[in-house]
Parts: sequence; structure tokens; C-alpha cells
Amino acid sequence: MKHNEIKHVAVVMDGNGRWAKQRLRPRVWGHIRGSYIVSDIVQAASDYNLASLTLYAFSTENWKRSKDEVQILFSLLKKFILKEREKILANNISFKVIGDISSLPKETIHLILDLENETKFNSGLKLSFAFSYGGRAEIVKACNTFIKNNKDELISEEALEKYLYRAEIPDIDLVIRTGGEQRVSNFLLWQIA
Ligand code: FPP
Repeated sequence: MKHNEIKHVAVVMDGNGRWAKQRLRPRVWGHIRGSYIVSDIVQAASDYNLASLTLYAFSTENWKRSKDEVQILFSLLKKFILKEREKILANNISFKVIGDISSLPKETIHLILDLENETKFNSGLKLSFAFSYGGRAEIVKACNTFIKNNKDELISEEALEKYLYRAEIPDIDLVIRTGGEQRVSNFLLWQIA
């Protein structure tokens, strides 16, 4: 595949806990160090003219993690938005969080929605953070919204795609798991088909 044929790269940002443990540090230290790399990855993807980059930062299953770990992951997302906002705007990047953000702190929800609104017509990299995201939940939600809006109609693949969290992103060409696992872990199930 030529590099310009790769349109959508998705990254499961795992292995931070193990990486920290090997260095005798707490798991959250691994997440913090991992978050430093995120801005480099976003910049590289933008420089490369990639159409779409989706980063898995928090899965629906991650709610089972300790309260402290969950809090740290929330605050890393907030910090990222505050720190990278200008760069996202300057690079014509379109930002979106996919997943159920309703349980995040109100202030973070506002920051997310503001940046989404400000960047929704940007034509550069489509950057998505999967946060409180589950692939099955996304498909179920899409089906339910379709049924509500289209009484007595059968669902087609094309119609369903319109109801996914981010309908305009292309199918995925490459999934990277930074921790080296080879599992799918409920990530973008429809889009990796
Ligand atoms: C799962 O693997 C990874 C996470 C739950 C979090 C990943 C999040 C980040 C790297 C930072 C988020 C940054 C922003 C900007 C939102 P694990 O590290 O728990 O894996 P392991 O236990 O298998 O090592």
C-alpha cells in the first residue's frame, strides 16, 4: 500500500501500565508519559496528510479501573484539549470525541463541545478520541437512532453508517496497539470490518 492510500489509522494506546510497572512506577505514570506522545503522533499524522486518526483513550470497560486511574485519564483528556487547542486550530484539524461523554465532568464536556464546534468545518486531519467508547455500544446506538427516525424501514449498511458517532470518517486501513497485543477489544468494530 502506498502511503497516500492509507487514509485512516487507529491506535489503541495500551501497555502504559506494564511499561510503568517495568520501571517500578505506578500505572498512572505510564498514562501520563503516554499522553506526552499523543501530541507528537497528532502532529506527525497531520504532516503526513493522513485523512483520519482515531485514538482509543478510554473504553467502556475502563470504567472498572480504580477511581484514581479513571480520574487521571479524564484529566489527561482535559489537559490535552487545553494545551493543544491552538495547534489543532492552526493545523486545520477537525476534532471530535466519539463515545458516551455524558459522565465526564461538565467543564470537560464544555471544552470538548466548544472545540468540536470550532473545528467541525476544518478540512485537514480528522482527529477522533475514543473516550468511554465501545464498538458494540456504537452499533446498538446507531440502530436505535435509525429505528426512531425511520419507522417501518429496514436498516441497510449505508443507512446505518450515517448514524455512527462520526459518519464522515473513512474505513480503517491500519490498527496499531502500542502495547503489542493482537486483540480487537471492542474498538471500532464496524469500521475495521
Ligand atoms: C489501556 O492500557 C490504556 C488506557 C486505559 C489509557 C490510554 C490513555 C493514554 C495513553 C493517555 C490518554 C491521553 C489523552 C490525551 C486523552 P493499559 O496502559 O492499562 O495497559 P496494560 O495494563 O496492558 O499495560
